[in-house]
Amino acid sequence: MTQLVGLLGYPLSHSISPVFQQAAFDHCGLPVRYDLWPTPLEELEAKVSKLRGPDYLGANVTVPHKERIPALIDDIDPLARAVGAVNTIVRNGRRLVGYNTDVFGFIKSLEEAGCFDPKGRRALLLGAGGAARAAAFALVTAGVASLTIANRTIERAESLARDVGGVAKGVTVVHATGVPLSEAVGDVELIVNSTSVGMSHGGADDRTLLDAGLVPSGALVYDMVYNPSETPLMREAGKAGARTLGGLMMLIYQGAAAFELWTGRDAPVEIMVRAGRQALARLPG
Ligand code: ATR
Repeated sequence: MTQLVGLLGYPLSHSISPVFQQAAFDHCGLPVRYDLWPTPLEELEAKVSKLRGPDYLGANVTVPHKERIPALIDDIDPLARAVGAVNTIVRNGRRLVGYNTDVFGFIKSLEEAGCFDPKGRRALLLGAGGAARAAAFALVTAGVASLTIANRTIERAESLARDVGGVAKGVTVVHATGVPLSEAVGDVELIVNSTSVGMSHGGADDRTLLDAGLVPSGALVYDMVYNPSETPLMREAGKAGARTLGGLMMLIYQGAAAFELWTGRDAPVEIMVRAGRQALARLPG
């Protein structure tokens, strides 16, 4: 019997998860099909409920549902509970268990692809949504010296800062605009963009929250956006002489961790990377 797994989100038109996940299942000879399940909010509860059926391995979850899933499933892994966002659902008998593999995907890509150890470093995080939550938890757990969370909606940044330990952990917040943002950049060593600004088809394609004049040349600028592979922020960072990292490896590593939770097998990461790169090259930029 072919088992099913898929991606819950809305809209989903340009996700590359089906391509690299299917490549991994096929490479391992597993009879599993990974589909896109575009699911508007009003259909989410019914769709999640269906995952309790024997055909399903589970699901990945993306924008805008990550923070809504905890209320709809049976058990939540402690890390996902702490982060407040679930990006992976695993069916265990008739129970659905929620995990957050974005935290692992973020830190693994930062350390391995970005060659950056965040311990003792000064970091700036742009955004305070689901993806930002994973990055903030990862950075505070890794022991950053300071973390400034900059967001358009300040209340959301404040709530995230509180959840990761607040000033006691060196976490502060600012508005992601104008003078407050430029002052916050200061001499940070790591800048992470978790907002959708700069994303193809994200509605604000060619914008960037920081331009070259503000980016410290010694910083690593990590944009979680993976399409386009060079975002406007990465271009500006390049002009400033800073190193850059795009979002593909985080996507692959969070997906590899999900694959391992669904199957109990090691993920063929190299196969996933190759398939992911090919899929990205085929997307409209
Ligand atoms: P995700 O789960 O991918 O993080 P999200 O929860 O919808 O998605 O969060 C999107 C983030 O991008 C938020 O930080 C959002 O800012 P608000 O909290 O103020 O909405 C940010 N964002 C999206 N569009 C933006 C824009 N045009 N300018 C600035 N920030 C933007």
